[in-house]
Amino acid sequence: MNNIGNSVLKKDHEEKISGMAKYVADLPTDGVLHGKFLGSTVAHAKIKNIKLPELPDGYMIVDKNDVPGENIVGIGLKDMPVFAVDTVEYIGDPILMVVGPEEHKVEEIVSKIVIAYDELPAIMDATKSEVAFYEYQHGKGDVDAAFKNADKIYDEVLSTGYNEQIYLETNGIIADYHDGKMTVRGSMQCPYYVYGELHEVTGLEKDKIQVKADTTGGGFGGKEDFPSILACQAAVASMKAKKPVRVIFDRREDITVTSKRHPLTARYKAAVKDGKVTAIDIDLIYDGGAYSTLSMVVLQRGTICATGVYNIENLRVHGKANKTNTVPKGAFRGFGAPQVFFGIELFMEHVAKGEGRNTLEFKKEHMVRQGDPTATLGKFHFHVPLNEMIEEADKLSDYKRKRELYDKPQTGRFRRGIGASLSLHGCGFTGSGERDLIKAVLKLKKYKDGTVEILAANTDMGQGIKTTLAKIAGKELGIPYDQIIYSNPDTDRVPDSGPTVASRSLMVVGELVRRASIKLKEEWKDGEDQIVEERYKHPEYLIPFSINNFRGDAYPTYAWSVQVIELEIDMLTGQHNVLGAYGSFDVGTPIDLNILHGQMEGGMLQGIGYSSMEYMDHDSKGRIRNNSFSNYIIPTAMDVQNLKVKMYVAEYPDGPYGAKGAGELPNVGTAPAYIAALEQALGKNVDHIPFTVEDTLKAISFKAE
Ligand code: MTE
Ligand code: MOS
Repeated sequence: MNNIGNSVLKKDHEEKISGMAKYVADLPTDGVLHGKFLGSTVAHAKIKNIKLPELPDGYMIVDKNDVPGENIVGIGLKDMPVFAVDTVEYIGDPILMVVGPEEHKVEEIVSKIVIAYDELPAIMDATKSEVAFYEYQHGKGDVDAAFKNADKIYDEVLSTGYNEQIYLETNGIIADYHDGKMTVRGSMQCPYYVYGELHEVTGLEKDKIQVKADTTGGGFGGKEDFPSILACQAAVASMKAKKPVRVIFDRREDITVTSKRHPLTARYKAAVKDGKVTAIDIDLIYDGGAYSTLSMVVLQRGTICATGVYNIENLRVHGKANKTNTVPKGAFRGFGAPQVFFGIELFMEHVAKGEGRNTLEFKKEHMVRQGDPTATLGKFHFHVPLNEMIEEADKLSDYKRKRELYDKPQTGRFRRGIGASLSLHGCGFTGSGERDLIKAVLKLKKYKDGTVEILAANTDMGQGIKTTLAKIAGKELGIPYDQIIYSNPDTDRVPDSGPTVASRSLMVVGELVRRASIKLKEEWKDGEDQIVEERYKHPEYLIPFSINNFRGDAYPTYAWSVQVIELEIDMLTGQHNVLGAYGSFDVGTPIDLNILHGQMEGGMLQGIGYSSMEYMDHDSKGRIRNNSFSNYIIPTAMDVQNLKVKMYVAEYPDGPYGAKGAGELPNVGTAPAYIAALEQALGKNVDHIPFTVEDTLKAISFKAE
């Protein structure tokens, strides 16, 4: 394996392709009780009374009174009750769980419980909410002066909708309290997050808690926060029942009550002087839902990245994550970045058009370069490859020629457009989280027969971390890939190498694997058991980041993308037809090209869904109307048959062999490219996503008037 980028068979290929991989729902159910939730049916209320039916033998109710430790979880603010105390804050808010041996009987009991509510006013619109979970502000230069001196001021509001991860496997957990020990297993991204919350909620000592991540059928950020609360609920139930308890969601339940991408309402103001944007003033309102969960990190990344790839001298960014009485919002592939990239990229398109300019040329004139300050007065320490990548994307898509062509007046039933977006993604945790909070530890264990096991807490949810980490160890140790083992993480066996989020695993944990492998090779003794350990080291050249005043390097490095979408719209039906999706991506040195192509293509496809068809809404009472695949529509490979990606390589010295974070990047810049194309085809501006067929029809009929 000389060239690490050459693709190999994925570690989990065989078990997945043969259908042998065991997901939590596949585990034997003998002697295991079933747990079903009774969630609130109203968006905001005091619980007045709970009327229970007669419970058959072996069936029980689990609620707030059964929680041995703290009845609360949370990542930033601790504000989410494990079971509702006396109020409910959104439809689905868990009040109690019914547990028992027969699943259908458990369901029957749930349906017979009657809850009387005293309804309270519910907030459905984040822009009208007066409760902010978090509020941040940062900026630089003199924004007011720049606006005063402007030749022209642009001002508009852009918004993004709900977005559900739709991992193939729904959430599921089994908790088993046995012999004074709690073993929890299931579908998750972050075994040690689950472990930490279990400690608080069960009150058990940490050495009495074990968390095992089963094969996880996709997460996309949606299994970062949610499994922790589900694990706590199942664990409390198992402690009460003294038997294992399994809770497996069906799709409707999963869509209704688990975390989603935050909708965003963003106001952009720009001052333009002599054809250049001299100042930007941005106001972001994220809809956080009923509890704060991951709103802190979403808002941090959103406010930090709000100016996209542009170097704007005078800047003000203000952002809030507001509470509403809707399902709590969490992470989805990019933590708040896909929303703000849609916003800033589209806004720059609109400003460029307003100035009568070629939009891509206008953007290029404002792009950051190596050595420039970041929005938070950190520094772009490394080469910014956007110019080269724009050329690459142009070669792939024929963008420049087509953009001019489609600008000419179009007639007939089908109208075409092509759009381009530029984006970056800060790799890994925001700020000094990696150094101060995560403090990743990794171990390599060598067995007598020469096989080496990677002991890490990261889960493979399709992004291929088992494979890429094994490749790194194999290369550095000079032993065959097959001789490297990576099992599903089990906190009894693996150290805390951190959560599987923020595209950090390969970049951060992969580097630990590389360094540990060097160490092991040096100490290698044939025929002996050996173990080596490595710990995270913070790159020294970074300008320390302060979250108090948003100053410094928010990220050690950046991954970059240039995406192009070409589409046509049917003027009769409003249907969109994606003719091509093209991307040039820089994630540093590719560790496996097949995996990267899959990541880039999948991320773009999700982005296309986000832009156009993944519409989700709630009615005036707060009930989500789109909770199945017949009314929440996601794209398939058949919807985008021409998808071409190319990897550009700008190496990062502190990632393994020069690799950077990859997984989230492709999902960040798709929506603005899509909407830029749609605007060209429609001949008018758009201000929100998803821009559905219905929206398109409306826009077309207005045009005819
Ligand atoms: N790819 C697949 N197939 N399934 C997933 O759940 N999650 C994405 C991305 N790619 C995901 C995926 C998200 S949200 C993140 S943060 C990264 O993978 C995590 O990958 P890494 O930390 O191993 O780089
Ligand atoms: Mo990814 S949103 O960081 O799980």
